Amino acid sequence: MNQYQTHEHDVVVIGAGGAGLRAAIEASAQGARVGVVCKSLLGKAHTVMAEGGMAAAMANVDDRDDWKTHFADTMRGGQYLNNARMAELHAQEAPACVHDLESWGALFDRTDDGRILQRNFGGHKYPRLAHVGDRTGLEMIRTLQDHGIHQGIDFLQEHTVIALLRDGERIVGALGYERELGRFHLYKAKAIVMATGGIGRAFKITSNSWEYTGDGHALAYHAGADLIDMEFVQFHPTGMVWPPSVRGILVTEGVRGEGGVLRNSEGKRFMFDDIPPLYQSSTADNEAEGWRYVVGDKSARRPPELLTRDHVARCIVREVREGRGSPHGGVFLDIAWIKEHISKSEEHIKRKLPSMYHQFVQLAGVDITKDPMEVGPTTHYVMGGIRVDGDSQMSTVPGLFAAGECAGGLHGANRLGGNSLSDLLVFGKRAGAYAAKFAAENDAGSIDEAAANAQVAAALEPFDREANDDGQPYRIQAELQDLMQDKVGIVRVEGEMKEALAGVARLRERAGKAFAMPSREYNPGWHTALDLDNLLTVSEAIALSALDRKESRGAQFREDYPEKDPEEAKHNTVLRRGPDGEMELTREPIVPPRDELTQIIEENK
Ligand code: FUM
Repeated sequence: MNQYQTHEHDVVVIGAGGAGLRAAIEASAQGARVGVVCKSLLGKAHTVMAEGGMAAAMANVDDRDDWKTHFADTMRGGQYLNNARMAELHAQEAPACVHDLESWGALFDRTDDGRILQRNFGGHKYPRLAHVGDRTGLEMIRTLQDHGIHQGIDFLQEHTVIALLRDGERIVGALGYERELGRFHLYKAKAIVMATGGIGRAFKITSNSWEYTGDGHALAYHAGADLIDMEFVQFHPTGMVWPPSVRGILVTEGVRGEGGVLRNSEGKRFMFDDIPPLYQSSTADNEAEGWRYVVGDKSARRPPELLTRDHVARCIVREVREGRGSPHGGVFLDIAWIKEHISKSEEHIKRKLPSMYHQFVQLAGVDITKDPMEVGPTTHYVMGGIRVDGDSQMSTVPGLFAAGECAGGLHGANRLGGNSLSDLLVFGKRAGAYAAKFAAENDAGSIDEAAANAQVAAALEPFDREANDDGQPYRIQAELQDLMQDKVGIVRVEGEMKEALAGVARLRERAGKAFAMPSREYNPGWHTALDLDNLLTVSEAIALSALDRKESRGAQFREDYPEKDPEEAKHNTVLRRGPDGEMELTREPIVPPRDELTQIIEENK
């Protein structure tokens, strides 16, 4: 007898962050019956952590901006490992997606003449981030939820998916369980969109919330999909460092976008000590600019604190390592100084950065309108992900689509801040449309019930095991997070990554002994035991890919190969599951951009 309840939809979306909700709305608008399955409650997705805004070349603040410049910035930020077709579509379609959101009720900050206000962010040539104070992700989720709820979409909240089911080559459903009561569910679908977000919980210090255990990456990989460029994990330069209970919580780049500066313990703006050659020529000239001390050519100036995230994070690590850090192992981020230097009031800071103000008062006892914050890098985002077709977002498994953070390609070696929210909108919409099309063109396929029941049996195994020291799920998870943080973090070296891979293998063995106390109801220990395989799979994928790329590029910094190597830049790293279940890595040549796109890149260099 089947041990699960069955739901039937044309399209099932797994994940209810920005990409998942946008995909669901679009698939539903195309006439598909849509179900959304999400691990947490609606409204709690990590999308809310993209606080500072969504990048779209609307040219509201600087009329020189256009999609071509946004495209070129994205490619430069990604160090040219990006899927150029995705970068093109993203830059072209982001403005319309922002307007869709506005037409569904999102309340953006405005310019004096009533247009959507756009702010500066790292790596963007012009002020480009449409924003709602420092709560942009929250407003986006609120708007998409409100809109989606009225489309007749089914929402299954607090359900965790544990396996994707195939009929031959194609996807036909997924199996999961209800977190509250531990009952199993089968979600039959003609097409599935993965929108599960990231992998941050594989690391100790992260801005990601508890759900981000790499589920979508691992489920798709086990179902036969390729993963691409998993070595590229973004460490956001500014997370909280103190007190320990809040370490890693995001401090939005919007603080720097509004004029906040980074200083070391000597009070020095250390970002001037390492200006990349591209920008060096203009720094002296900029001394005359007073507080701004901008870099970049004269037509598009920005402070060095707004160089790309990979660069800023490494400069912070350097200051801390060389003994110029703050008392708790970070550096200082000072927004209060704009009062004196550009005559802004405390009220202005509170209005522009309301969440940051409350976050620091309530969690750290710091009034950011008066005192600097202590900040340091935090694991924020993975650029690598499920390999997808740039137009349709279909993975290498027919019927399986992916959008948002769990999909790879758009961001190359490093994502620009603000390109995440626009990514979710552009490619969530595309994934939803193409999934609905796939569903309309294909039948339901058939479910292998024995395989589904075997998945249920495997998920219940932790209850059959005796309690044992090695198999404590929380301990295994914590040891993995320490291992990844220490050995595959911001600065990487071959020997340590090999140790990490050996450690992952040891922890995998222990995960085979993971046990759960009796009762499927309200049992977080059991949930953690079930998350372990995903965490271990993405950790192995990251370490293996990082070890293979013998250069420093974007988010990957190797102390043993500190330079960029043009030869190493000719490939994407692709992982797939081998016939015996082992992880196989291949290097696949980068698909060169079309001539027209290459010309845009050259013109913007
Ligand atoms: O800093 C931030 O507000 C984060 C934005 C992002 O990751 O896009």
